[in-house]
Amino acid sequence: MPKKIVGAIVALIIVVGLPTFVYLLTSNKLKIGYNTGYMPEQPIPFSHELHAGTNKMDCKYCHTTSEVSRHASVPSLNICLNCHLVVKADSPWIQQIQEKGMSGESIPWKKVHLLPDHVKFNHSAHVNKGKTCQTCHGPVETMPVVYQYNDLSMGWCVNCHRQPENNAPITCGTCHY
Ligand code: HEC
Ligand code: HEC
Ligand code: HEC
Ligand code: HEC
Ligand code: HEC
Repeated sequence: MPKKIVGAIVALIIVVGLPTFVYLLTSNKLKIGYNTGYMPEQPIPFSHELHAGTNKMDCKYCHTTSEVSRHASVPSLNICLNCHLVVKADSPWIQQIQEKGMSGESIPWKKVHLLPDHVKFNHSAHVNKGKTCQTCHGPVETMPVVYQYNDLSMGWCVNCHRQPENNAPITCGTCHY
């Protein structure tokens, strides 16, 4: 191919391709590869539907750090033992929780949500601005097994930050290291 044509093709790719790429990234249209619906099987069948739904337990009773830190902590077994020293003590699952809890071990829960390393996210910044857990995680209190409800894409984050009432920053450095 003559060099001019190659040059023209490269220029076309840059002129059309780059804005299209940025548009797709920010528009939520590039869904391939995101983990919406991801629902790993957990080592113990812990049900949010039963605990947060039927028994109306507050999310923050177990996820204690979601208001004050970057991460929303997953509860230690001590919190479970507040009830399960007694409740349903005949269940083999509960007996496992008692044994591990009393010897200071933990359950190797599988992580459901995971942003790439180059992204900064902070729970407290959102929870303290009145965003409910469900805004981002969906109706967890109806889930027998938790799954990823939103795609956690850049477009999803930026769309919400752009809403005038949120007045949230959208510069790249807000969310990227
Ligand atoms: C009785 C304690 C308890 C309560 C109450 C509770 N959770 Fe959880 N949550 C857990 C445990 C244990 C896990 C880890 C096991 C699992 O994923 O099911 C977890 C996992 C999660 C995860 C997935 C974390 C990850 O790995 O990405 C989310 C999201 C979550 N909870 C949100 C909520 C919300 C929202 C509420 C309130 C509607 C809530 N939880 C109430 C104990 C609790
Ligand atoms: C603005 C959206 C948003 C809100 C509001 C929100 N979360 Fe999250 N949550 C996320 C994202 C994004 C992740 C993945 C974070 C990561 O991988 O660093 C996550 C991860 C988690 C995890 C796994 C541990 C961690 O921090 O990585 C738990 C547990 C959790 N959220 C519980 C909650 C609870 C409980 C609430 C309400 C008190 C809540 N979240 C509110 C977006 C949100
Ligand atoms: C506020 C009290 C309370 C706390 C705290 C609590 N649970 Fe429960 N849990 C219950 C009740 C009530 C049931 C239903 C018991 C029944 O079916 O009779 C239950 C049932 C269960 C079951 C089903 C057992 C079976 O074999 O049917 C599992 C598993 C379980 N809980 C795990 C956990 C874990 C893990 C934690 C800590 C992250 C936890 N629970 C914290 C009250 C609690
Ligand atoms: C439901 C709306 C909503 C979603 C979804 C959302 N955010 Fe936010 N975000 C906000 C609001 C509101 C603030 C607080 C702005 C302020 O402090 O006034 C905020 C603040 C932040 C901050 C803190 C900025 C600072 O001042 O330190 C970071 C970082 C951030 N968001 C990252 C993310 C990332 C990454 C995602 C996607 C994984 C995301 N957000 C999804 C609404 C949202
Ligand atoms: C409100 C938060 C937020 C802001 C602001 C933001 N990003 Fe992102 N970005 C994310 C999240 C979350 C991801 C990971 C999910 C994804 O790939 O969509 C991401 C992914 C990316 C990726 C893809 C990396 C890969 O591994 O595929 C690029 C490139 C990128 N961002 C560039 C930018 C640039 C350039 C800006 C400024 C114009 C920017 N981002 C602003 C949240 C944000």
